[in-house]
Amino acid sequence: MEYLVKLKNLKVDFLIEDQIIEALKGISFEIFPEEIVALVGESGSGKSVTCQAILDILPKYARVEGDIILNIDKYKNKNLKSLTDEQKRDIRGNHISMIFQEPSAVLNPLFTIGEQIVETILAHQSISEGEAYKKAIEAMENAKIPHPEIRFKQYPHEMSGGLKQRVAIAIAIANYPKLLLADEPTTALDVTVSAQILKLFKSLKQNLKVGILLVTHDLGIVAEVADRVLVIYKGEIVETGDVFEIFENPKHPYTKKLLSSRPSIFSEK
Ligand SMILES: Nc1ncnc2c1ncn2[C@@H]1O[C@H](COP(=O)(O)OP(=O)(O)O)[C@@H](O)[C@H]1O
Ligand SMILES: [Mg+2]
Repeated sequence: MEYLVKLKNLKVDFLIEDQIIEALKGISFEIFPEEIVALVGESGSGKSVTCQAILDILPKYARVEGDIILNIDKYKNKNLKSLTDEQKRDIRGNHISMIFQEPSAVLNPLFTIGEQIVETILAHQSISEGEAYKKAIEAMENAKIPHPEIRFKQYPHEMSGGLKQRVAIAIAIANYPKLLLADEPTTALDVTVSAQILKLFKSLKQNLKVGILLVTHDLGIVAEVADRVLVIYKGEIVETGDVFEIFENPKHPYTKKLLSSRPSIFSEK
């Protein structure tokens, strides 16, 4: 199968005054359709920067080296840096979407959630409002939001944290992207709600055939849903493997440390 995205020796430095922060020191990996790849590492290791690089939303003072090759829909074997701004805008939201820790970051308190999903759809597709309504309901169904017609008319403040995250996911999948980047999507949620959102990711993987990069610092989440694991440490990928390889036979000292700080990971379940 062909990959959706391939990072080749990706380096990101931030140039601030006379300082250079090496955020990514040359990382390489691929994400395929219909798989959940966990990018796991402690705070500051470069996880969010990786997502921002794939979406090309890093600040101007970031220096990016290496390649990000896309194989998504009409962007076949395309190097991200060779694309026009218009193409990059088309990719964001239409072909690659991002889900953040805080759904409030993407939800506007002044509009109903239905209006916001419809807006996302109409921003990328030339269809009637009636058709957009149908597609919005469909997105809410895909995000497993109960009673979508009722919820459609509600405002973000009328919803729990977990439901708001589902709405953010409905917005992210409304245009059927092939790749989802989920940056600590359950960190702000309690354990039960977090487990439900992880289950939703599994169903999106199967039903929509998306590839998902699931960023987390939590190995419990990794064990729960990931097909493959990338362990990132100080801007470098220090270990990769499937979930069982990593948990059964961690090789890098950092992975061993991560695992030993959660000794009861399998017995908890
Ligand atoms: N916009 C930015 N400007 C300067 N430094 C940044 C910026 N974003 C991230 N960094 C630095 O890059 C490194 C990686 O950050 P990040 O990817 O956000 O880590 P995390 O793994 O917690 O998501 C950190 O040292 C962080 O301070
Ligand atoms: Mg982060």
